[in-house]
Amino acid sequence: MSSSRGPARIAPSILAADFARLGEEIAMVAPHVDMLHIDVMDGHFVPNVSLGPPVIRCIRPVTELPFDCHLMMTNADAYFDPLREVGADLVTIHIEAYPDPTRAASQARELGLGFGLVLNPPTPMAAVEPFLDLCDLVLVMSVHPGFGGQAFIPATLATVRSLRETLDRRSLAVDIQIDGGIDPDTIGAAREAGADVFVAGSAIFGAADPVAAVEALRRSAEG
Ligand code: DX5
Ligand code: ZN
Repeated sequence: MSSSRGPARIAPSILAADFARLGEEIAMVAPHVDMLHIDVMDGHFVPNVSLGPPVIRCIRPVTELPFDCHLMMTNADAYFDPLREVGADLVTIHIEAYPDPTRAASQARELGLGFGLVLNPPTPMAAVEPFLDLCDLVLVMSVHPGFGGQAFIPATLATVRSLRETLDRRSLAVDIQIDGGIDPDTIGAAREAGADVFVAGSAIFGAADPVAAVEALRRSAEG
């Protein structure tokens, strides 16, 4: 049984939305989800580029949901201020790009942003362990970052489990988020391992009925 606190939360990844109808797609799912996951890529830390502050500014008026910005960037901290300015609420940066994220965490806090660390599939939980008290959230990647629509990597559940154990042992109120290949078939195991927040792109925006897809994810998470 999972020792996670509170109900499972769903964070649609807009990377899988139809960018020609981005505002409409966000407005459709917004009343049914808990935060919006926004993937920002630099074409360097990951082999893809996605979107940045100009697009985030345009979608900010569509919903009051928290904007969770997953920064797949080597110089993410240079964008904290521009991201806050266009309405980001929380930024997550990769531990692989910031082996000591202490300074970046303070910069985010000074700007009033929530802060989190991200681990790629091969990165051990120990890499973030010294920095857990700087975090609101830790994101475990369950695919290699850069692209939507990839298959869930089950071995990453071990990272979620050891993170859950460590956070509970230290009584730290840090959410565990999981991102990549989350669908009704994989979400249950991720919940069981101890994740709190579930990012889903293709499973929501690739579905014929995205609202029904969110409800299916919630049911499977608690199943
Ligand atoms: C991948 C991104 C994910 C991606 C998830 O680099 O971080 O947020 O959009 O997409 P799905 O849910 O399709 O695996
Ligand atoms: Zn992401």
